[in-house]
Amino acid sequence: MAFPTTRMRRLRASPALRGLVRETELRAERLVLPLFVSETASAREPIEAMPGVERLPIAAAVQEAREAAELGLAAVLLFGVPAEKDSEGSGAWDEQGAVQIAAAAIKQALPELLVITDVCLCEYTDHGHCGVVDWGSHPPGSHSPGSHSPHSHPAESNPARSQPPSVDNDATLELLARTAVSHARAGADIVAPSDMMDGRVGAIRSELDAEGFAEIPIMAYAAKFASALYGPFREAAGCAPAFGDRRSYQMDPANGREAVREALLDASEGADMLTVKPALAYGDVIRAVKRATRLPVAAYNVSGEYAMVKAAAAAGYLDERAAVTEILTSLHRAGADIVISYHAKDAARWLSEGA
Ligand code: PBG
Ligand code: ZN
Repeated sequence: MAFPTTRMRRLRASPALRGLVRETELRAERLVLPLFVSETASAREPIEAMPGVERLPIAAAVQEAREAAELGLAAVLLFGVPAEKDSEGSGAWDEQGAVQIAAAAIKQALPELLVITDVCLCEYTDHGHCGVVDWGSHPPGSHSPGSHSPHSHPAESNPARSQPPSVDNDATLELLARTAVSHARAGADIVAPSDMMDGRVGAIRSELDAEGFAEIPIMAYAAKFASALYGPFREAAGCAPAFGDRRSYQMDPANGREAVREALLDASEGADMLTVKPALAYGDVIRAVKRATRLPVAAYNVSGEYAMVKAAAAAGYLDERAAVTEILTSLHRAGADIVISYHAKDAARWLSEGA
């Protein structure tokens, strides 16, 4: 029955009616707050492109976690900023690393709050890639774009010798698994591999099981796209790649079906939850992954998405509270069970204040 029998506006007439038929609810316990824990910071360090977000010394990270818990957030997601980097990213599995120490400290102070740890090598490698690099014919140090002389040795033109450096998938798996185990040992409740190497979920699952952590869930970034929206994060974590980009391991933003294949593979390797990242331009992927796997899905509202809203709000171009509420709600509507967002504390505060 169409108009005039059906009038859609009948159910929009008052706040009570709108509340009665609202399909999607934003809830603090579905929000996860990312934290940058620094080994070197002696005080909170602001991150220019992410107003309101800071690199944190351990004590401040515990303080942030406490606030998160008091606001009713589900979890914090820890990223580490190490003092030193090397070619393998060995800081990633250092028992005294920022993530390991912060995870232990947060669990001790706030046993009820979930601690999720990012499992990747890029914050810890001196070249900034998410895995170990096979240098091919370009030894470390020779990778600056200007290093190719037009008069180079004839051997340079031999295709077998001119392989560009690449990220070695299989050699990286063991290092990721070792990192995940070190996080579990420190007390992490959930590990979240974000590297996009093939087979890492299976490798991490079997190593966790072998080391006595069969009960630790894996939240896998199943569909992580090579996105321009990670820019501010790379400033925050100091992990921009020193050469090339991440397009040989992160996904092409044009591909939705491939995202579902990634998700199904991660599920078959034992992932307990799946993450889609970035979030805002990927609602279709969130929905497709959810439908195909039936696993809990997290949407990662990334640093660039945060920066855009903060910049527009600071300029007076939009109402921050209304925009953030709409954005986070829309991710749930798309099918996300969990939303990871730098806005999480603000959103929880607004929720507790009510309309
Ligand atoms: C690194 C990592 C990145 C993000 C989370 N983990 C950056 C990247 O892949 O280059 C981005 C998060 C954000 O932008 O908020 N594996
Ligand atoms: Zn990485």
